[in-house]
Amino acid sequence: MIATVGVIGSGTMGGGIAALAARAGFEVILHDNAATALADAMERIREDIRAGAAKGKLSSTQATQILARIRPRKTFRDLSVSDIVIEAVVEDLAVKREMFRGLDRIVAPDALLVSNTSSLPVTTLAFETRLPERVAGMHFFNPPAVMPLVEIVRGRYTSEQTVAAVRDFALRLKKTPVVCSDSPGFIVNRVARPFYGEALRLLGEGAATVEQIDAIVRKEGGFRMGPFELMDLIGIDVNYAVTKSVYEQFFHDPRFRPHPIQRQMVEAGTLGRKTGKGFYSYP
Ligand code: NAI
Repeated sequence: MIATVGVIGSGTMGGGIAALAARAGFEVILHDNAATALADAMERIREDIRAGAAKGKLSSTQATQILARIRPRKTFRDLSVSDIVIEAVVEDLAVKREMFRGLDRIVAPDALLVSNTSSLPVTTLAFETRLPERVAGMHFFNPPAVMPLVEIVRGRYTSEQTVAAVRDFALRLKKTPVVCSDSPGFIVNRVARPFYGEALRLLGEGAATVEQIDAIVRKEGGFRMGPFELMDLIGIDVNYAVTKSVYEQFFHDPRFRPHPIQRQMVEAGTLGRKTGKGFYSYP
């Protein structure tokens, strides 16, 4: 039975997932190795919850209770009491492997370990642990409070019991779980690669502007956001890392090749909404 949820990485996704779990009634331990990231996440969560209370979606007692359920912690070992740990650190296989090696040493043998990775192999992460059958992917979408879908990734070693428990947990968070296999980018990020890739190629060729492409996709295509608006929301760095990861895992299949515009923006520090500037400006 899951009562305490550990979350590693308090960035865009980790902070959102922590708030989601606390709203669903779970005790939450939110860990990040950067104290500023942890403080920023708690500030974002507080603001969101206050806004919910101001709009009458939550009573002030509920808001206080939700906040009291989230414990920000800078010490990794504090995650040891978790019944499930959701890893949401940077999209870097080496960093994630280290997290899983460490978690395996500190949590109880029946605790579940899941990764919010957008594209990386869950099987590789499971291989870092002594009980790989309890490792799965649990891929939330941005923003976690709003997006209903959660991809549950079944790695090569993941047991049916783990898949069922993670699915059940997703339902308790009021999400729509879809079980998929451990293939690069899973379902959504695989399908989404050409969405971003072709838009970047059009832009690179000077065929259309950012605004034109977004407006056409939104107004005529019926999408909620255009590709550039979405890349700004996701983070140009995160999107670039996912594109590179899928490209590399498919042995440099040109269909998934990243675009130089992405790399240039990452190197220039224009990462989208989180830095105030991406394809658009956010004053
Ligand atoms: P982010 O860059 O906003 O946050 C990552 C956090 O991890 C930072 O706060 C950083 O301090 C922390 N961190 C890095 N190394 C650490 C370590 N060794 N120990 C503890 N904390 C560490 O990234 P974001 O966007 O939240 O992405 C996190 C994961 O979620 C990635 O795997 C990404 O692919 C995935 N994801 C991202 C989505 C998005 O739209 N941004 C959507 C769905 C999944």
